[in-house]
Amino acid sequence: MKTLITGLLSATLILGCMDSSHSSDHGSNSEKLPSIVEGKFTQALVIPATQSIDQAQISAQIQSGSTDRLGYSNGGILGPTLIGKTGQKVQIQLTNRLSEGTNLHWHGLEVPVDQDGLPENSILPGQSKNYDFTIKNRAGMYWYHPHLMGSTARQAYQGLAGLILIRDAEEDSLHLPSGEYELPLVVQDRRANHTYQPNMDEIMSGFMGDHIEVNGIASPIHQVKKGVYRLRILNGSNARVYDFALSDHRMMTLIGSDGGLLPQAQSVDHLLLGPGERADVLVSFEKDPTANELYLISQNFSGGNQGSQSFKVMKFKVLDAVGTSYTVPAQLSKIEAIPSTSQNRTFALAMASSMNSGSMGMHTINGQIYDSKRIEAQIKAGSVEQWKWTNNTHEIHPIHIHGVQFQVIERSVGRTALPQEKGWKDTFVLLPMEQATIAIRFSSELGRHLFHCHNLEHEEDGMMLQYEIIP
Ligand code: C2O
Ligand code: CU
Ligand code: CU
Repeated sequence: MKTLITGLLSATLILGCMDSSHSSDHGSNSEKLPSIVEGKFTQALVIPATQSIDQAQISAQIQSGSTDRLGYSNGGILGPTLIGKTGQKVQIQLTNRLSEGTNLHWHGLEVPVDQDGLPENSILPGQSKNYDFTIKNRAGMYWYHPHLMGSTARQAYQGLAGLILIRDAEEDSLHLPSGEYELPLVVQDRRANHTYQPNMDEIMSGFMGDHIEVNGIASPIHQVKKGVYRLRILNGSNARVYDFALSDHRMMTLIGSDGGLLPQAQSVDHLLLGPGERADVLVSFEKDPTANELYLISQNFSGGNQGSQSFKVMKFKVLDAVGTSYTVPAQLSKIEAIPSTSQNRTFALAMASSMNSGSMGMHTINGQIYDSKRIEAQIKAGSVEQWKWTNNTHEIHPIHIHGVQFQVIERSVGRTALPQEKGWKDTFVLLPMEQATIAIRFSSELGRHLFHCHNLEHEEDGMMLQYEIIP
């Protein structure tokens, strides 16, 4: 018996070796990630300016000083945060001042298809588009970024992204920490020389930076009072996954995820967040001694190569001033479980077996790559389905579905359901070889909607398909 097992093991090892002869095929752990350079944590954190979502005007432009940096306002690497309420009518004018096409996608919002920036719909240089739709989503932090085929990953990396904060009566009634106590934090990794030119390996792993920025500032510091803060974190990176924690490992109170508040607060000491995912957490500095310094860090995690890096993200320094306290209510919100159904579909993430180096299509979903004319699933408006996902690769894939907030109902291989998965999600992470099932109630926004890996290099490589809502 023992020899049999040893025999099997060595057979696996040999197969494993053969496998790595085309090492990029399975995104093996041999890819070199750029090492992270931490700054001095002396530059103050900047909170992006806000605009009301019913009369927003943003323009995509090249930032002065570097043609490799783009932005939605001159000077700020992040676009303005758009503030709105559930039920409100949106009026956003995008002006394209770039020398190339662009468009906008409202990540997490349920909007009509013609307002959602399909990969083929380009706003040409010098042109403007008025986006108008009504906010159907509940309170939560959503975001916007370009979604133009072939340009999404680069334009997002170069700085085209911004936040959307939606409020509603339910959230208002909780009187959560607000004003100076509510901090939107967009975490992105970038490279010092700014150029975006992924090579083959970087398409495999995704394009990683050599330093970490929060709201466009490298290694920032923020001074806090001795109170409770609401940190609203977006992983806005192209490919990097973070396992966030505080440097002294104090507990954080997780109150919300992609689609708003959780039913009950969850006490967590770390938080794995893939590209596109958001977390809403309360952190208390009430008992900190004056001048205490601590860091938001990203720690090691088991999930392939990426998990081997740990680093500081930003610094908090505690002021002498006493701040506002907050006690979390036992019940934050109500989330009705999506009813179970036999309407199932399966999706397998894999690497194409024959590769054409340099061409699109190594990363596939059900063996397919993106084709604007191809509809993977036709779904009746308002119906419920379960989608079972299998990651057959050694890479991490954050899966995002447009036009819906869904529920992660089972993780059958890999981890069990995560704290942030007790709420509504529009993006969820599959670590290498994991499996998970999600339940979705589809909207009645007729037409084609995208779903894809939010590792933006994988997306550009074709890891994106469409579903169509039919009457
Ligand atoms: Cu945030 Cu289809 O993307
Ligand atoms: Cu989206
Ligand atoms: Cu992926």
